[in-house]
Amino acid sequence: MGKMTAPKIQAMKQSEQKIAMVTAYDYPTAVLAFRSGADIILVGDSLGMVILGYKDTLKVTMADMIHHCKAVSRGTNGPLTVGDMPFMSYQVSTAQAVENAGRFIQEGGMDAVKLEGAGYAERVQAIVKSGIPVMGHLGLTPQSVKAFGGFKVQGKTLNAARKLLADAVLLEDAGVFSMVLEGIPAELAKMVTDAVHVPTIGIGAGAGCTGQVLVFHDLLAIPDTAPFQFVRTFAEAGSLMEKGLLDYVTAIRNGTFPESGHSSHLSEPVKKALEKEVVRKCM
Ligand code: KIV
Repeated sequence: MGKMTAPKIQAMKQSEQKIAMVTAYDYPTAVLAFRSGADIILVGDSLGMVILGYKDTLKVTMADMIHHCKAVSRGTNGPLTVGDMPFMSYQVSTAQAVENAGRFIQEGGMDAVKLEGAGYAERVQAIVKSGIPVMGHLGLTPQSVKAFGGFKVQGKTLNAARKLLADAVLLEDAGVFSMVLEGIPAELAKMVTDAVHVPTIGIGAGAGCTGQVLVFHDLLAIPDTAPFQFVRTFAEAGSLMEKGLLDYVTAIRNGTFPESGHSSHLSEPVKKALEKEVVRKCM
């Protein structure tokens, strides 16, 4: 498909093409995401939950993100790669936001960055000005989980829906090339999609968005069935992996692994000569 770019992603909305985005966190997940033909691979700060085992994304650091972005960039060559700016990497100052966005490109090998909320629109503008494409993210933005009082659907009241629509326009004016809409009513997501020129990429936001994104481990049920209402399990990869590992441990214990073909072998003459020496030394 050639290299995907931020302008090409933007053009997909005009040509009414659906955008497919998936997360990846390391070399193997990047290779699999690349082979799926997805348009965008997001190195999400969701890695805090699905890879590092935290209960939310707030402890994820720039060091974590750069480490995982580097691995992903080695496993993919074609889709647009987006690095997720972690909590406190853009909130402190505009200078720090631009510097950290730059690290995603220079060290992490990403093509673009994503940051949450419209409260930092001037930082979005500064990052875009520095030449880095920015993806916005509105709705149930996980870095605000403490302010929301949990992972709760956003934009349900008239005022909240109005604010979200206004935020979408604010982000578009700040220069984002697309925006994620997470955990908002489907009707509102459709209205946002119609109100802005840039593509919207939904997660738990209905079918009216320009594209969709899911977390790699959720859609493949790794390690277990996905807990969220908005996730469809496309393959039971977790239970397949679990069965493979159980079979492996059982095979070691009952002596059926390894078999002869899993090792290299000495030639007969070398074996015989060696056997004599070993016997002699042991006598
Ligand atoms: O961190 C992440 O994976 C995300 C997506 C769910 C949009 O932000």
